[in-house]
Amino acid sequence: MQNILPLHLFEELEAITGSQYLFLDEETRRHYGHDETEDYNFPPSVVVKPGTPEEISAIMKLANEYKIPVVPIGGRTGLSGGALSIHGGIGLSMERFTKIEIDENNLQAIVEPAVITQVFREAAFEKGLFYPPDPSSQGSCTIGGNVAENAGGARALKYGVTKDYVLNLQVVLPNGDIIWTGANTLKNSTGYNLTQLMVGSEGTLGIITKIVMKLLPKNNHNILMLVPFFKSAQACEAVAEIFRAGIVPSALEFMERDAIDWTLRFVDGVSIDIKDEVEAHLLIEVDGNYPDVLFVEAEKIMGVLERFEIDEILFADTEDQKNALWKIRRAVGEAVKSNSVYKEEDTVVPRYELPRLLEGIKDAGWKYGFKSVCYGHAGDGNLHVNIIKGDMTDENWKTEVPKGIREIFELTVSLKGTLSGEHGIGYVQKSYMDIAFTNGHLQLMKGIKRLFDPNNILNPGKVLPDNL
Ligand code: LAC
Ligand code: ZN
Repeated sequence: MQNILPLHLFEELEAITGSQYLFLDEETRRHYGHDETEDYNFPPSVVVKPGTPEEISAIMKLANEYKIPVVPIGGRTGLSGGALSIHGGIGLSMERFTKIEIDENNLQAIVEPAVITQVFREAAFEKGLFYPPDPSSQGSCTIGGNVAENAGGARALKYGVTKDYVLNLQVVLPNGDIIWTGANTLKNSTGYNLTQLMVGSEGTLGIITKIVMKLLPKNNHNILMLVPFFKSAQACEAVAEIFRAGIVPSALEFMERDAIDWTLRFVDGVSIDIKDEVEAHLLIEVDGNYPDVLFVEAEKIMGVLERFEIDEILFADTEDQKNALWKIRRAVGEAVKSNSVYKEEDTVVPRYELPRLLEGIKDAGWKYGFKSVCYGHAGDGNLHVNIIKGDMTDENWKTEVPKGIREIFELTVSLKGTLSGEHGIGYVQKSYMDIAFTNGHLQLMKGIKRLFDPNNILNPGKVLPDNL
């Protein structure tokens, strides 16, 4: 892999994008050198901001000729380092791809990758339509990044994740070819499913330039409640029980005591009284079109909750109260990050196994000497585990924590779960992939990568372990 770029490469890049869209200064390179993953910064050697798929195609041909890495960059909110230019090279910011076209006749949209997720959700909403995936970073993450990582969010338990909405993709392949992966149809049994291979491929197989998304009609009502539990383990147990009672909530989020306490200190203008003995909360939402049905569902949920040791349930009566509760939930990640250097794992298990997962995470913390703050999408069995550096020595942080993470991942896999539910593998989890896959399985993935990208120039050093 080449790190020093030949001078005429810059001239050739400039000829493709125009000089106003090519940046070599350190400040810009550092700006595009980080996402939200720990405290990493890997600046690209040059940042380009192409405006069309044809320009990207020309850039890929050039990069193949010179064997130079290209890293697609979106909103830089990723938590697994997918957008980090770990080998330098060309940082390809997609930020000029910002169009949204909504097709009300078919309940679809054609979205360009740099559209901010929340902007897209609101554009759909204005037309009476609903795009459910709502990662916590929806105010700054982009649809392209969501597709690349197969992002989830709080509504996935009822509505699915990003992959469930992607019908078709325009992609620039590493060799510069521009293809549509599928068709703009709800059904498609035509050939191998390259659309879904691209979703979640973390910018390693192609550069997504247009996304055809399925939309739903929007619903108009919801009930939101915050439930304090005196025992975290019981909060986890209640999750599967709610589904077993026949209810599919539209959100079912778990927050450990520290997660909510740290967030209340971090976010302005919100406060909740919480008894000292409370160990965890569930934030539960049901949604639909008929308030009467929602009341019945909420009552059924309360019937389940009565079987556990809980304090008084807080119902959000107004839109403002609902927004405040969601603001708290969405800010947990940032609040934890503001406290200490940390590592975030994205464990996921079948939801009935959640109590065993939480217990195992805490055991690993005792054994290897770290504190963890857990929160996440309990309804999906998806628990974010923030491992806090606090006053741990650098030495222990480097040697003990990875052992603990390995044990946690071994536990998730033994519970029939896996390493990441929605944040991806990227740069920071690739060395744990052997836990989830046999060597033969990993070789198959490597073969796919090689077929798409024989020169290994598109986002190299991501997803697959180094020693494969
Ligand atoms: C969340 C992000 C970190 O759930 O996935 O808040
Ligand atoms: Zn999440």
